[in-house]
Amino acid sequence: MPAREEIIVRRLGAGEVRAQLDALAAVLVDCVAGGASVSYMAPFSHEHGREVFEAFATDVEHGRRLLVAAFAGDELVGTVQVVLALPPNQPHRAEIAKLLVHRSARRRGVARLLMEHAEVEARAEGRTLLVLDTVTGDDAERLYERLGWTKVGVIPGYALYPDGRPCDTTVFWKSI
Ligand SMILES: CC(C)(COP(=O)(O)OP(=O)(O)OC[C@H]1O[C@@H](n2cnc3c(N)ncnc32)[C@H](O)[C@@H]1OP(=O)(O)O)[C@@H](O)C(=O)NCCC(=O)NCCS
Repeated sequence: MPAREEIIVRRLGAGEVRAQLDALAAVLVDCVAGGASVSYMAPFSHEHGREVFEAFATDVEHGRRLLVAAFAGDELVGTVQVVLALPPNQPHRAEIAKLLVHRSARRRGVARLLMEHAEVEARAEGRTLLVLDTVTGDDAERLYERLGWTKVGVIPGYALYPDGRPCDTTVFWKSI
């Protein structure tokens, strides 16, 4: 990514998610290849990545989740999702999921921009309480603390890294 490329962050409709399947899959594949614990195990193929985002596109289409993407020029370099489909007694709540930034675009504030935009979109959907979980001790945990999220606690051995090692998970919430 060129050093001075402006980052544009915006919400994608279902059609745009489908149009960006290759780029979204590429970001996810890169994150898994980099060892991120984001639901998927290694080896993780581009085709599998496309299938994952095709399913997310269907959720976006039905209003079950919204997807925000970050672009450096024409190139999609990061994404995050807001899960809206929650039980009827939690209409004010949403969950943040799948914050992913391609390794080539990291440490430029892309994730911060994605999270700030996700909050704006969640608020626009009438949500006032956000929840997320993340691998304990990774870069994302510091990011969430900087962005004003409150740490609930750590669940030991909650998930696996792509190579099969167990990892702890930290749960956060934020009032918006
Ligand atoms: C976690 C993740 C999303 C962060 O993405 P990112 O775009 O690099 O995040 P940011 O750039 O906003 O912040 C990362 C760091 O860069 C620093 N930074 C931000 N802008 C910067 C700039 N212009 N110059 C130098 N450093 C900068 C931040 O201060 C932060 O520093 P820290 O790690 O020492 O706390 C990314 O590493 C990733 O995709 N990881 C794999 C997937 C994952 O774990 N997702 C979270 C699942 S919950």
